[in-house]
Amino acid sequence: MEHEKKWWHNAVIYQVYPSSFYDTNNDGIGDIRGIIEKLPYIVSLGVNMIWLNPIFSSPNDDNGYDISDFYGIMPSFGTMADVEELIAKAHAMGIKILFDLVMNHTSDEHPWFIESRKSKENAHRDFYIWQDGKNGEKPTNWEGFFGGSVWEKNAQTDDYYLHLFSKKMPDLNWQSKNLRQAIYDVANFWAEKGVDGLRLDAIIHIAKNMDFPQGVNTTNRPYVLADQHYANLPQVHTYMKEFHQKVLAGGNILTVGEASTAGVKEALQYSDPKNKEFNMIISFQQLSLDYDHSITHVPPKWTQKKMDLVEFKKVMQNWQLGLYEKGWNTLYWNNHDMPRVVSRFGDEGVYHIQSAKMLATLMYLQWGTAFILQGEEIGMLNADFTKLTDYRDVEVFTLYEETVTKAGYSDTEIMQRIKNRCRDNARTPMQWDATANGGFSAGVPWIGVNNNYHLLNVEAQEQNPDSILNYYRSIIKLKTGNACFIYGEFTLLLANDPSIYAYTRSNSTGIYTIICNFTGELQTTAELFEVSIQKKLLGNYENITTADGKLCLRPYEALVFFQDFIV
Ligand code: GLC
Ligand code: CA
Repeated sequence: MEHEKKWWHNAVIYQVYPSSFYDTNNDGIGDIRGIIEKLPYIVSLGVNMIWLNPIFSSPNDDNGYDISDFYGIMPSFGTMADVEELIAKAHAMGIKILFDLVMNHTSDEHPWFIESRKSKENAHRDFYIWQDGKNGEKPTNWEGFFGGSVWEKNAQTDDYYLHLFSKKMPDLNWQSKNLRQAIYDVANFWAEKGVDGLRLDAIIHIAKNMDFPQGVNTTNRPYVLADQHYANLPQVHTYMKEFHQKVLAGGNILTVGEASTAGVKEALQYSDPKNKEFNMIISFQQLSLDYDHSITHVPPKWTQKKMDLVEFKKVMQNWQLGLYEKGWNTLYWNNHDMPRVVSRFGDEGVYHIQSAKMLATLMYLQWGTAFILQGEEIGMLNADFTKLTDYRDVEVFTLYEETVTKAGYSDTEIMQRIKNRCRDNARTPMQWDATANGGFSAGVPWIGVNNNYHLLNVEAQEQNPDSILNYYRSIIKLKTGNACFIYGEFTLLLANDPSIYAYTRSNSTGIYTIICNFTGELQTTAELFEVSIQKKLLGNYENITTADGKLCLRPYEALVFFQDFIV
């Protein structure tokens, strides 16, 4: 069955992290006016939509994901008039806007929570999740996503509220009809403002097992990630169908559900158009394969092992085939919650440029909507921080407190984990040029700029036709200009090769073969030798090298070939 065509099938989405994009009033914080000023740059990339991380009023415990007013703009970002101007100017330039809506929780400074915590009789009491302690202990041993318990004591009512993220982010109670309606009102308000899409943050967590069973703890941490009690529960589908009906009915708004632990089966349920839930989801499955589950004194995301490429291919193929012509797929390497892709899977040294280009080729020519994180297009690397005080992310401090301060693990070990895995790696300011602070701000940036900005910046790459930046432009152009890359079939090649990632995309008009060396060593393949006589469309080295009937791939080499069926 052919897909019903939708405008967003052809979307390439550029993620703007507003506080680190561009600062126009030199208070050290990126702002809406900065995004407006940089719209021509965004257009020049060839993308057609931007995703903005939350810009609503917030005490910033979790950089805006803790919202205190869904209808207000964070003053450091600008005003409602700025936002309206951004939407209008972006539209005029052919760029759509995806907003990030947080519906799983609010800030503890949101008026709903300030009310809810006052007394058990309060009119907003049921907007949040309250439980009594059990035998003087917390209601359950559930662990939050930032580490530590999900329960926090409320002195006013002598009971606990649930927070899956920081303790300043109490979870909303979706069982409450009034709460649900209040959220739909928010979403409709922004849809009417002209926003083209909504990313629904942490959406798979909105339903919890309200029997509050204990989690089975097999770790050596005091609390346990008990996902089965607070992720992908059946009620999430019920609520999303209602959301679809009350907010989206008749509209043409794109919805992207953040669904960290969803597998293909859940993704199908969420993204099959028949089900009327979301249009697509973002799962973390394929980006969790370098976790080392034998280490349990820290949550899995802080562990690391070398990713097995064969396993990665298997998972990617599963997504490509599992959703094809049924649901819709998303493609990404990193976002504001993950380390930078080149630091994680490529090479920060001699093969920096080649590996960045290879990674882009590998990922974005597959089937699905591409999400590119600001700075990825110039190959930005992880932060170069050395001290705990260099970091800004609440999750870093929770980890440090739970492991070093409370449990006595070594500072050196935990600091190394933070360096490799923390989210601030993706949040350092955009590197525009070689002037102070990478041209991001003339003030003191809220988070340190990576010192490599002197060499690694947009301006330098604009002038170089072989730069990562210009290569990204070619990939994006290939992707968006071509029905085969949007709808064509995906076939994985060399499934068991531990070093080469190769696949084809094909439709009735032709076939593209994408071949990527995932390693820093020379690789050869006899199987793909034949392909090398086809037309080479793109690559990150000059020429093609072959020897003895084999195609040779230099470190991190990427190649795209094309064969026309209609000659
Ligand atoms: C999502 C966001 C992340 C945030 C969390 C809580 O995972 O991407 O940045 O901390 O939700 O809102
Ligand atoms: Ca500013």
